[in-house]
Amino acid sequence: MPEFLVTGASGMLGRSWTRLLETRGIDHLGAPRAELDITKVDALKRWIVRGTKWVINCAAWTDVDGAESHPEDANAVNGLAVARLADRCVEVGAKLVHYSTDYVFDGKKRLPYRTEQARAPINAYGRSKALGEELLEQAGVNHLLVRSSWLYAPWGKNFVLTMRELVQTRSQLRVVDDQRGRPSSCHHIAEATLGLLENHCFGTYHVCDGGECTWFDLASLVRDVVNPDCVIEACASEEFPRPAPRPAYSVLDLTATEQVLGPISDWKGRVTRMLEDLEGIG
Ligand SMILES: NC(=O)c1ccc[n+]([C@@H]2O[C@H](COP(=O)([O-])OP(=O)(O)OC[C@H]3O[C@@H](n4cnc5c(N)ncnc54)[C@H](OP(=O)(O)O)[C@@H]3O)[C@@H](O)[C@H]2O)c1
Repeated sequence: MPEFLVTGASGMLGRSWTRLLETRGIDHLGAPRAELDITKVDALKRWIVRGTKWVINCAAWTDVDGAESHPEDANAVNGLAVARLADRCVEVGAKLVHYSTDYVFDGKKRLPYRTEQARAPINAYGRSKALGEELLEQAGVNHLLVRSSWLYAPWGKNFVLTMRELVQTRSQLRVVDDQRGRPSSCHHIAEATLGLLENHCFGTYHVCDGGECTWFDLASLVRDVVNPDCVIEACASEEFPRPAPRPAYSVLDLTATEQVLGPISDWKGRVTRMLEDLEGIG
């Protein structure tokens, strides 16, 4: 039985995890949703068996706006399924890595959110992820809870790839400049999580790229690398009304993680490298 089981293996982070484990030659199984639906107890029993050391839960309901109209569905995957997953891990003696989000905080602060700060989500997705965190903490499973934010990867649906496409096809764009956060490379999240596991870390950690920015700053960097001729103007969130409110400031504090793994480098270098790889530059 492989030591690692990755759920949600065809999602953005799930793909980064399976790729990392392949690269490192670590025996693992990657289970996409079609094979392992984490809301189904039978499926959990079939996939999580004695001998599994680590379950890496990359499965999630990630449609932030859709969660407003389907809160029960979001809670089922991001909340209740996490409790079942944790129970199954306890039954077979596996440890659980689970991912959560900056959206468990309200975004009213102006200093990075520390790991132990009280949860206060302002949208249905955030509430579903906060429920998952609470149930995980109550389950009595050996776990590592990793919060992250603004994920990007060379695959999947993410802001960096969306901007890459838009700056290539439009001469002018408007992007919101009143939400601050930390972009997070999925490749780095998987690597840093493995680093935390190797250092026997349990409990809650934050993993993002270093530095902080607004969506406008991030879009501007994409433009600088991909098509400097595209003009990007800053605007306020009210210009793009969405069903789910977004926290204005959702910078996660990285101190605890950096104490274990050392300083985490800036988002600018990581995003630039990924884009240059995609563009075949350098
Ligand atoms: N994306 C972000 O910016 C962001 C920010 C902060 C935190 N996070 C957290 O990071 C983690 C990874 O997110 P991601 O961006 O990689 O998400 P993603 O690309 O949407 O991947 C999630 C995966 O979970 C699968 N899934 C959904 N419901 C499932 C179920 N019931 N059983 C099994 N699999 C199921 C999805 O399958 P389908 O595609 O078939 O539905 C998808 O493959 C999540 O915990 C998320 O909350 C993400």
